[in-house]
Amino acid sequence: MSVQKKVKRVTTHVLSEMKLKGEKISMLTAYDFSMAQIIDNAGIDVILVGDSASNVMAGNETTLPITLDQMIYHGASVVRGVDRALVVVDLPFGSYQGNSKEALCSAIRIMKETSADAVKLEGGREVVESVTRILSAGIPGIPIMGHLGLTPQSIHKFGTYVVRAQEDAEAKKLIEDAHLLEEAGCFAIVLEKIPAKLAAQVAKELTIPIIGIGAGGGVDGQVLVIHDMLGINQEFSPRFLRRYHNLYAEMTGAVGNYINDVKSGNFPNEREQY
Ligand code: KIV
Repeated sequence: MSVQKKVKRVTTHVLSEMKLKGEKISMLTAYDFSMAQIIDNAGIDVILVGDSASNVMAGNETTLPITLDQMIYHGASVVRGVDRALVVVDLPFGSYQGNSKEALCSAIRIMKETSADAVKLEGGREVVESVTRILSAGIPGIPIMGHLGLTPQSIHKFGTYVVRAQEDAEAKKLIEDAHLLEEAGCFAIVLEKIPAKLAAQVAKELTIPIIGIGAGGGVDGQVLVIHDMLGINQEFSPRFLRRYHNLYAEMTGAVGNYINDVKSGNFPNEREQY
């Protein structure tokens, strides 16, 4: 008889209980099976299949080029590697901004073709109709995570990746948008690159978990892009990023050693052949 590994899965309900208990939520991105397996086994609470795949996996300058089919490929690969974490897949640029019907069709495709637990989309008031429509799909609908502050899919509207909502008017709109997303039924919101004081205020006012990236420590959890926190990605060094490793150097060194061993005839040795 095979022994089945029993793990208690992280659900949206577990996340809201964590907020109630004041227990911080850990979230990282992943885009493939192997990385998802590693970070799930390490005990991460939420895995985001972010459209940052467009940057770190495909080498694009922005998140705009990645397609729905490509997000589905990454999402399905990640889900196959995960036993415990809640998996959220980004709705990519162009798959939900057109109208709420298109948003619903895109969200359904992600849920059916990846078996992920939830989707994430960027924006406030502009996307509330889509959020409502997606959440009306069946019972209990499709869980949605919001994303406010720096929203990389709007790069051509804002023109830069600087800290958002530093002016009163934008801060006020962000607070209103956060309330609208909560009222529409989002189970959590990511706040990216905004003043820590503002993020803490949003986390205090809302009952749903607020996950920050460059939004200070007064929120309910943190998210980072895995390539950035492992130091695979050398060029990206914003102030909010803490690097937990220098994998770029480690991997370059390992590849260098392999090349030397092949060239010198040191690899393979007698024990490494048949
Ligand atoms: O796509 C992504 O990786 C994200 C995170 C930065 C929150 O949206």
